[in-house]
Amino acid sequence: MGQDALSFCVIGHPVGHSKSPRIHAAFAAQTGIELQYHSQLAPLDGFEATVADLRAAGYRGANVTVPFKLEAFDLCTALSARARAAGAVNTLSFGAGIEGDNTDGAGLVADIVRNAGVTVQGARVLLVGAGGAARGVILPLLEQAPAALVLVNRTAATAHAVAAHFDGKVGVRGFDDLTGPFDIVINATSASITGAVPPLPPGVFGAATLALDMMYGPAPTAFMGFAASHGASVRDGLGMLVEQAAEAFYVWHGVRPETAAVLAALKGAA
Ligand code: ATR
Repeated sequence: MGQDALSFCVIGHPVGHSKSPRIHAAFAAQTGIELQYHSQLAPLDGFEATVADLRAAGYRGANVTVPFKLEAFDLCTALSARARAAGAVNTLSFGAGIEGDNTDGAGLVADIVRNAGVTVQGARVLLVGAGGAARGVILPLLEQAPAALVLVNRTAATAHAVAAHFDGKVGVRGFDDLTGPFDIVINATSASITGAVPPLPPGVFGAATLALDMMYGPAPTAFMGFAASHGASVRDGLGMLVEQAAEAFYVWHGVRPETAAVLAALKGAA
């Protein structure tokens, strides 16, 4: 790697598990762009100082992961529309200021439409959860013009607060009020971390439903098992991860990498 290679990293806490360095290295090799990309652990109270150090060292940008996406949003001097809608930033570009973007929703849509071959336009979409992960994907989903985007969350007030940012375009329901099946059900809760499944009525799933969990791991999540047992096709969050990285790569380098081989390699390694 030459001295002039562009430097990037992913900032998180923890961050050692991150697959982003591997994904960006694969994109760099594929596109012939010389760069280095590593994992950068930031202390929980040291995100801003970490960003300042990276900028001083000449870094061009950084991805941001848990738990710093909100702090990143606050730190930016300019924000893309999708970052503003998400209320969170996962992609920083360093120049005279700090530009913030959010590629999570674009990554999710790319995975559903291109990789899974499922159309969002005209579809009935159920988004489960109302935390940062859910909010981050709403604008890109709405831009696909679904027939309906319904938000359901364990704490109803949080769902209403999130929906209020989107001009009446997001409907809020309780778990007991859901009538299905939906064409696409997206689990944006953190329930899978503990092996839990949100209390969805089985009727939200049908034989034509795509059920996607934003989480991923060596085995299918409990949500995926539940959805599959009620007839849905299931997908984990690995495709979204690769696609959000591809979108960040495009933001930084203006080149859109091919993702299929990278996703296949990650799946093989899981
Ligand atoms: P993230 O940034 O990953 O979205 P978060 O902001 O903490 O994390 O949000 C977690 C989401 O998962 C919330 O929607 C949470 O529901 P509440 O708002 O009611 O807390 C949801 N969640 C977490 N565990 C859950 C569970 N076991 N069942 C259903 N929803 C769950």
